[in-house]
Amino acid sequence: MVGHAFMGRAHSQAWRSVGPFFGPPLTPVMAALAGRDAGRAAEAARTLGWASSEGDWKQLLRRDDVQIVDICTPGDAHAEIAVAALDAGKHVLCEKPLANSSAEAEEMVAAAERARANGVRSMVGFNYRRVPAVTLARNLVAGGRIGTVRHVRAQYLQDWLTDPEAPFSWRLDRDRAGTGALGDIGAHIIDTAQFITGHALVGVSAVMDTFVRERPAPGGGTAEVTVDDAALFVGRTDGGALASFEATRMATGRKNALRIEVSGSSGALSFDLESMNELWFHDGTEAAETAGFRRIVVTEPVHTYARQWWPPGHMLGYEHTFTHQAADLLTAIADGTDPTPSFADGLRVQRVLDAVAASAASGGWADVEGSQ
Ligand SMILES: NC(=O)c1ccc[n+]([C@@H]2O[C@H](COP(=O)([O-])OP(=O)(O)OC[C@H]3O[C@@H](n4cnc5c(N)ncnc54)[C@H](O)[C@@H]3O)[C@@H](O)[C@H]2O)c1
Repeated sequence: MVGHAFMGRAHSQAWRSVGPFFGPPLTPVMAALAGRDAGRAAEAARTLGWASSEGDWKQLLRRDDVQIVDICTPGDAHAEIAVAALDAGKHVLCEKPLANSSAEAEEMVAAAERARANGVRSMVGFNYRRVPAVTLARNLVAGGRIGTVRHVRAQYLQDWLTDPEAPFSWRLDRDRAGTGALGDIGAHIIDTAQFITGHALVGVSAVMDTFVRERPAPGGGTAEVTVDDAALFVGRTDGGALASFEATRMATGRKNALRIEVSGSSGALSFDLESMNELWFHDGTEAAETAGFRRIVVTEPVHTYARQWWPPGHMLGYEHTFTHQAADLLTAIADGTDPTPSFADGLRVQRVLDAVAASAASGGWADVEGSQ
């Protein structure tokens, strides 16, 4: 694994728990953790349960005991590490968004295709696909339970940048993060919407803004914020639905509210990550007297991923999605199949991000490249 802060901790938890709970066909060994500083990497390896550490990720590629490289670094390092790892014959799990630009993502897809010819697999970490309620939503749509999808309304609302004194970090630097709320959390709702509906966005019209343009720098003084604080857009899907999206880190009082509602010709679905064990389902074919949104607690053994954990109603959380991701990756590697979401799926999201940025800059409609 490369990187050992937020996602490094979440992924470590997943690699530790996937064997005992999912019993995947391959048992992961947490061989080595890499960071930019040998001392800090060694300390993190001890804390997080890795057998050894490296002060430079390139060392991982030279090791025969490393077969999967898990990339948990900011976006500016994804392409270089992923391409080198795939070319070295290592399977790759890469955090989202896949890259900081579509050009980088295209290089990564090309590397993934080269590696695939040798049985080497790759996956991008859109972990919210692996919330059982989100998987159920997709299954209900695919099973025709809401009819033809006409509307998607998606929001990802956080508030950690509301305070103008919140400090500058790599997430506010275009060179390191690519974009702001758009790529950080907007990417998640784009992927989740496309996953649930089975349809891709073909074009968008967007507005974006940066409300606080200077923030305290960790080393003293201030630093310029070079990314968006908020991105709002509407779009059309290749299934003919109209969709709306809002991604902001300034939604005062909202912590991690990934919400998505899908309206179909004969039913509807609604999900909120802050109540992530629940899916709300309206079956429009029921008698009007009793029809209405009903709450499904998605913890039954029949629900994907739920059987491996606790008895019904004993609730899953954020960290479980990463364990599901690890289980699916290990299973695909063992079966010789392609895990999803693929790097190509990651590129498709990247192209939507590009279209949103282009539309916000021009003030007009922007087609999503490759979707026509
Ligand atoms: N799936 C999710 O829910 C989710 C949530 C948060 C972040 N992310 C994504 O995960 C990635 C990492 O985000 P984070 O929140 O863990 O960031 P973070 O700042 O908490 O951690 C980044 C880690 O990468 C290391 N690092 C930075 N540059 C490096 C380099 N060139 N080589 C080696 N190590 C390097 C840092 O030392 C640190 O350990 C980003 O792509 C982000 O978008 C995903």
